[in-house]
Amino acid sequence: MARTLVSVIGGRPADGTPAGTVSSPNPSRLADVVAEVTLADAATFAAACAAAKRAQPSWADVPAPVRGRAAGAIGAIVAANKESLARLVTRELGKPLPEALGEVQEIIDTCDFFLGEGRRLYGQTVPSEMPDKQLFTFRVPVGAVAVLTAGNFPVAVPSWYLIPALVAGNTVVWKPAEYAAASAMALFEMIQAAGLPDGVLNIVFAEGQEAFAGLELGLQAGTIDKIGFTGSTAVGSLIGELAGRHLQAPCLELGGKNPMVVTPSADIDLAVEGALFSGFGTAGQRCTSLGTLIVHESVHDEFLARLAATVSSAAIGDPAKDVLYGPMLAQKFADRFEEFLGWIQPHHKVLGSSGTGRISSAQPRAGFVGDPEDGIFCHPTIVDGLRPGDAPIELANAPGYGLSSCIYTSDPREVFRFRRGISAGMVSINNSTSGAEAHLPFGGNGKSGNGSRQSGVWVLDQFTRWQAMNWDYSGHLQKAQMDVAELTADPDYKLAT
Ligand code: UN1
Repeated sequence: MARTLVSVIGGRPADGTPAGTVSSPNPSRLADVVAEVTLADAATFAAACAAAKRAQPSWADVPAPVRGRAAGAIGAIVAANKESLARLVTRELGKPLPEALGEVQEIIDTCDFFLGEGRRLYGQTVPSEMPDKQLFTFRVPVGAVAVLTAGNFPVAVPSWYLIPALVAGNTVVWKPAEYAAASAMALFEMIQAAGLPDGVLNIVFAEGQEAFAGLELGLQAGTIDKIGFTGSTAVGSLIGELAGRHLQAPCLELGGKNPMVVTPSADIDLAVEGALFSGFGTAGQRCTSLGTLIVHESVHDEFLARLAATVSSAAIGDPAKDVLYGPMLAQKFADRFEEFLGWIQPHHKVLGSSGTGRISSAQPRAGFVGDPEDGIFCHPTIVDGLRPGDAPIELANAPGYGLSSCIYTSDPREVFRFRRGISAGMVSINNSTSGAEAHLPFGGNGKSGNGSRQSGVWVLDQFTRWQAMNWDYSGHLQKAQMDVAELTADPDYKLAT
């Protein structure tokens, strides 16, 4: 049964349909409509920013340990509803259930971390160069934050923004992907159930263009102090440009073309298993999914033969069953994937399935689980024979992305050379390009992001600003750099021998 979803601003549903409606279908059974979504326009988005801005000072007055306890309560609510939220993610986005359960666990892990951070949010005491004076630093919330997220991780990645932003004393306007609206609404309701005051967290369903125009209105009105965005490089650079005009640095988590290197010393079975999950987990739609495999020529044929055999025999289909992957997240991703397939050249060798593009009765796949015509399913594809250069590191860096990477090797020298040489925010050794943990810095360089990092203590630098305080209790004006006592050193000192 489809739910009708509307934006919630300042604790109240934003009625009216100024920008129309859209439905969010189950991509593995398109006839099953998960939600009918009422879309907001730019003015509604801007109204949400104003509501968040109004609510922020009193939320910042709530003691940080109490805000941290809200993160703990959210984690407990999500844990109690883990299975049902995961099933909703599987239904709306087509992720196989074990992956959806992992995604929900990532929210719980994030809440665990930030429960404690509410009792830290440490500043420093710093010695002054003058007597009877003390220096301090404080973390100050940035204010009202606009968060725009993709649907490939419809609840985990949003939680990487929402939870630390809220614990740090900010208020938030969250715009999830329209095709992930029901999952987003479920997380929103769980967060609200932790007792947040009205306006502290607002959810707005909107199409990209309207949200972008709403961001501009909010920035102009001074009701947005920070933007967090996970999505494409093209939209990320537009957001960066817009934020830059208002002298803001957004937190941008953009795509990846993540490389995997397999060296002659690699454990080939392990590397095949890693390539299978990195390349085809979530139907290859993670930001951390494997894009380029770089295999040393001495192991290339053996590795490729084993990978192709494993991919060819993998179960694909209904994400509620035991499959490697399910459908594409939404139609537009299948269309884009088919465009990429157009880049295949006659000299390339295509492996991994009995066809390319959509799985259908005209282009079937052996062992498909369910009926491929019910949803948006694509053949797995490996394209061999790309050789733009010899050095794996250059090749890995070549497209200018730099989110995740991995190397399979048993040689520590290769590990550290690779780590030093690769411009990626994340490097895995003998593990897949996917699978970042919730308390390590997550983010990319170049086309994958502007160097901002999420997760763990690192994300606090996105959602707080440092304030320096100096307190002079000497009772007279002491001037820095001028009234500083010096010890007298003996410049002629020589060690007696
Ligand atoms: C993303 O695709 O935006 O490492 C996030 C991983 C997950 C998060 C991916 N933990 O693949």
